[in-house]
Amino acid sequence: MINSLILMMFLYSNFVSTEYYEKIAWGSYVYEEGAYPFYLSIQEPVGGNPKNGYYHACAGALIEPRIMLTAAHCLMNDTLIPLMRILPNYRNTPLILPGDLVFKIEAYERHPGAGSVSWATAKDDIAVALLDKPDPRPGAIISRPVLPLHICFPVKIMGYGYTESYDPPYRLKEAIVLRLTDEECLDELPWQYAPGYSLCVSNSIGSAGCRGDSGGPLIWENPKTNKTFIYGVLSIVSFQCADAPFTIYVDVLAYNDWIDIAVFRLTIHDELRSGSDSTKDK
Ligand SMILES: *[C@@H]1O[C@H](CO)[C@@H](O)[C@H](O)[C@H]1NC(C)=O
Ligand SMILES: *[C@@H]1O[C@H](CO)[C@@H](O)[C@H](O)[C@H]1NC(C)=O
Repeated sequence: MINSLILMMFLYSNFVSTEYYEKIAWGSYVYEEGAYPFYLSIQEPVGGNPKNGYYHACAGALIEPRIMLTAAHCLMNDTLIPLMRILPNYRNTPLILPGDLVFKIEAYERHPGAGSVSWATAKDDIAVALLDKPDPRPGAIISRPVLPLHICFPVKIMGYGYTESYDPPYRLKEAIVLRLTDEECLDELPWQYAPGYSLCVSNSIGSAGCRGDSGGPLIWENPKTNKTFIYGVLSIVSFQCADAPFTIYVDVLAYNDWIDIAVFRLTIHDELRSGSDSTKDK
């Protein structure tokens, strides 16, 4: 615990660097074609130079055709953000083929609480980004929840983050987990878990997010309607993810109002930008 806390402090104090990227440990590969179209890979240029190629650094989810939801700590370096590219999940791989649609981040908003004194917890580790164009794929959007996540509902974590052997996989990984109670989360992760603002998840085989999974969605698929909801945004994993079977997500339901306002601001500013030249945008 102490080790993982120190590592988290290290990661958090350095999360502006490109070193902070996380994959699902003890998960299974996703083979279904077209699965999870809302999953987005946030890729950074190697060494800060696009000529060197890109690597998968963080994840996001498409909540509107032009809006990505992710973790604030994935968008902390303002110089790096214009260089990032966003690859939607076409083939469950972070590798790009010619002709693949790639997005850039046009504008973004981090929760004002992110990166402040609450750095040690998953509180406020959330951001929204306006993409440079809408995703044209029908049904690629994931819905935000209106009802709390029931403890008994099986939910899924997913990502291109490191595996249990600390390799980056070249296929999307997923795992089915359950939400733990606040008491259980506080017992296991007293420093990082923020009741009311975060969700912590686990399963009996120790599946967990790892480096590169940050910002990725925690989803619930309603078996009655087949509708999929994003309940969490991955915020904190242990550096030792093979042996630390817990993952902390920002609770999307707790931030729905902030997300609505941030999306509105990003969208209205964009309309002003693309509208008449005489309209001045702050
Ligand atoms: C932010 O990203 C730029 C471009 O890659 C890099 O040169 C700079 O060192 C980064 N800043 C920090 C604080 O990591
Ligand atoms: C949900 O998906 C399953 C499997 O694809 C299908 O058999 C079922 O009819 C769907 N249910 C609804 C309500 O669409």
